[in-house]
Amino acid sequence: MVEIALPANSRVQPGKTVAAPAGATRVKRFNIYRYDPDSGANPRLDTFEIDLDACGPMVLDALLKIKNEIDSTLTFRRSCREGICGSCAMNIGGANTLACLKPIADIEGDVAIYPLPHMPVVKDLVADLSVPYAQLASVRPWMQTQSPTPPDSERLQSPEERELLDGLWECILCFCCQTSCPSYWWNGDRYLGPAVLLQAARWIFDSRDEMTGERLDTLEDPFKLYRCHTIMNCTQTCPKGLNPARAIGAIKGKLIERRA
Ligand code: SF4
Ligand code: SF4
Ligand code: FES
Repeated sequence: MVEIALPANSRVQPGKTVAAPAGATRVKRFNIYRYDPDSGANPRLDTFEIDLDACGPMVLDALLKIKNEIDSTLTFRRSCREGICGSCAMNIGGANTLACLKPIADIEGDVAIYPLPHMPVVKDLVADLSVPYAQLASVRPWMQTQSPTPPDSERLQSPEERELLDGLWECILCFCCQTSCPSYWWNGDRYLGPAVLLQAARWIFDSRDEMTGERLDTLEDPFKLYRCHTIMNCTQTCPKGLNPARAIGAIKGKLIERRA
């Protein structure tokens, strides 16, 4: 049996190993973080050996196989299984990503799976996202208007105005970027973080929104916005190929423009 390498001071203990079925020829080991805060026990890493010939191609397929066929107590979030809902965000092979979009074949050696980092854990791979969701609500991520709604049409925008939202509207709020940001790790109670700031930008740059000034006032704060130090982890990790660091830079640019 291959030992799992854990740091000497780790609170995570080696857990159980479930061997692949006899006769399996394409075996992959999944080392999965398990933790139930209610149990009082330390977290552990369980190992499941999976026959890839009897499993779908994505990491989420392996997790579902484990839950359905081996250990029904394994807890994780998922819904759409096609990169749209953002539920299956977790740390796979050391990087935050979506389990449903991550091919098992892309991972060399054992597959290490942990919850999104630096967040409290509800159970196993489920991170507690209450704080980022409250921060999201604080930027009012919906269109705010003061003028009367046009009686005979929607609120229109030109193709050029619409184009300004490209790279922003596609965000699925998986929080992979948020939980990969060192500034957010250190100041997560006060820094809004890349996912929330990208959502703020999505409305600041929407030509139909009429509260741009108020939105910028809210962000003009040493912690909410200016804790971004352009480390770029957020952009590197986004499974949708978005660039939260650029969106944050654009908000800073808008604030400078306003002061000029
Ligand atoms: S660029 Fe800003 S938001 Fe992105 S990881 Fe770095 S500090 Fe965090
Ligand atoms: S910007 Fe990307 S990583 Fe961040 S929440 Fe949106 S989709 Fe997820
Ligand atoms: S299950 Fe919806 S994004 Fe992965």
